[in-house]
Amino acid sequence: ATTLPYPREAIAKASGLQDNVPVAFNYPDAESFCQIIKTGRPVPGGIGPDGDIVAFSTQCTHNGCPLSYDKEARTFKCGCHFSIFDPEMAGQMVDGQSTENLPRILLEHDTADDSLYAVAVEGLIYGRQCNLL
Ligand code: FES
Repeated sequence: ATTLPYPREAIAKASGLQDNVPVAFNYPDAESFCQIIKTGRPVPGGIGPDGDIVAFSTQCTHNGCPLSYDKEARTFKCGCHFSIFDPEMAGQMVDGQSTENLPRILLEHDTADDSLYAVAVEGLIYGRQCNLL
């Protein structure tokens, strides 16, 4: 496998995240919009003390519109053509015009100081031929 030189960037402290409240960040560069969320229950790919922290690119995989989080439905929604993505199912596309799941931001949790680091992207960020520009 090819190992791409992704940056390792501190995103948040695990203890600083609230259940079901996403926090925006940019990764692997300023042009790429992402959100990290503590779902409040163990989920596929979840890390941290409770196995419930995941992060995704939040540019819609259909046409690149910004996604917003719906706290009631616990999903990311696109206002352009109504695609819906489930962060508790690894970013799976569950409805709408899109055909691709959300790219996942791979995270690491440093138990020494509780920092969460973004370390790679799994899947292709919308509009890119390569995640690293
Ligand atoms: Fe999101 Fe079309 S850009 S559904």
